[in-house]
Amino acid sequence: MDLGLRDKVTIVAASSKGLGRAVAEEFAREGARLVMCSRDEAAIRTAAEGVQRKTGADVQWTVADVGTAEGCQKLVRTAVDKFGTIDILVSNAGGPPPGRFDDLDDAAWQKAVGITLFSAVRLTRLVLPHMRKAGGGSIVYMTSTTVRQPTQYLNLILSNAIRAAVQGMAKTLSSDLAKDGVRVNCVQPGRILTERIEQLDSDTAKRQNTTPDTIRAHYEKNVIPMGRYGKPEEFAAAVVFLASPKASYITGTSLQVDGGMLMSMF
Ligand SMILES: NC(=O)c1ccc[n+]([C@@H]2O[C@H](COP(=O)([O-])OP(=O)(O)OC[C@H]3O[C@@H](n4cnc5c(N)ncnc54)[C@H](OP(=O)(O)O)[C@@H]3O)[C@@H](O)[C@H]2O)c1
Repeated sequence: MDLGLRDKVTIVAASSKGLGRAVAEEFAREGARLVMCSRDEAAIRTAAEGVQRKTGADVQWTVADVGTAEGCQKLVRTAVDKFGTIDILVSNAGGPPPGRFDDLDDAAWQKAVGITLFSAVRLTRLVLPHMRKAGGGSIVYMTSTTVRQPTQYLNLILSNAIRAAVQGMAKTLSSDLAKDGVRVNCVQPGRILTERIEQLDSDTAKRQNTTPDTIRAHYEKNVIPMGRYGKPEEFAAAVVFLASPKASYITGTSLQVDGGMLMSMF
């Protein structure tokens, strides 16, 4: 199926590895023109060059911390300077650190709000003028299944609390921006195997005095009906479809990519 993404100018934030990297590569395969970022120059350069080599796509990269206003501005400016417009934003950032309520002070909460919520707010604010000028666009927020159902382990309170704000913003925006031709959707990963998931499994294991493999085995045997963690490219395929013109009548939705893990019907 041709998703209609050829030459679409697409920003994929936080994309040197993990889900962002996989999403960037999938857009590149579809012929999109791409802008990638992370905080680490060597990492993002290597990732962008890898995507370009594999796909032949036009890929631009920059060093930008999307947890800051300057980082968000730099990312969007890079896209506009290079390509003159923005068609698609995939809003992503590193996950907040694990921790239970008693572990976290105000500074930890504020930092997490800066990274998880404000990256989404600021990137959206910065891309909208370009999308409106172009007569439309598409925004996908990468959130988490924990927005619908927090994990049974209790060490993700920052993520559980703050991602819900992104989700609420996305739903509200989807109604507001429909008249401008801008679609807004969320994609929610369950347990897709990346360094982040390995880090979380290690943290949970330490707290439970067991091993990361035991935590993973518990999920794969008892929690995920498909019996395995997902692959980043399986997540990326969902993001790319929802962002693409083929999803032209889909806005305000949230698609979980979780091997059937969530038991809720909606
Ligand atoms: N994997 C899952 O199954 C899963 C499930 C639920 C939610 N999530 C969420 O989805 C997001 C991506 O997860 P992931 O598994 O891909 O994580 P990951 O493997 O840790 O990768 C995170 C990526 O984001 C970049 N990054 C981190 N903080 C950044 C910042 N402030 N500004 C710019 N780039 C930044 C990192 O590069 P640098 O370090 O070079 O900056 C890296 O490229 C996270 O928010 C995570 O919590 C993931």
